[in-house]
Amino acid sequence: MSKVLVLNGPNLSRLGAREPEIYGNASWADLVSLVENTAAKLNLAAEVRQTDSESELIGWIHEAIDSSSDVVINPAAFTHYSYALRDACAMLTKAKLRLIEVHISNPHAREEFRHTSVISGVATGVIAGFGIDSYALALQQLAKS
Ligand code: DQA
Repeated sequence: MSKVLVLNGPNLSRLGAREPEIYGNASWADLVSLVENTAAKLNLAAEVRQTDSESELIGWIHEAIDSSSDVVINPAAFTHYSYALRDACAMLTKAKLRLIEVHISNPHAREEFRHTSVISGVATGVIAGFGIDSYALALQQLAKS
């Protein structure tokens, strides 16, 4: 069974309560259920994690490399400025593992600082703007090959 780490950055545990007009009404628990149910149907061994810590997130990317896991990542605000996370993601894709960057909102339709992703240039692909369904779309893509 193909392994996938589904990693989430800062403030995403507040889903449902945090700016619902932007991120929707689905809660963090709803997101975890959606990912677990979708992964089970697709025969993927997925594990969902969230952290507010850049260091922990980078450690999880290292773990994915060492365990040959693909990654779905919503880097949240780290998307826009974390060169350290980008460097970790670059190691993963250079190791021929896949990394799909996902966003719940469409950052390109929001404030200017969100238009830059330092992660996209080293990602396998990017899915944004479909609410929590962005994660299901990413898993469907990983299940194809
Ligand atoms: C986000 C978009 C980011 O700009 C923001 O900092 C987030 C969430 C999204 O999923 O839409 O925390 O990654």
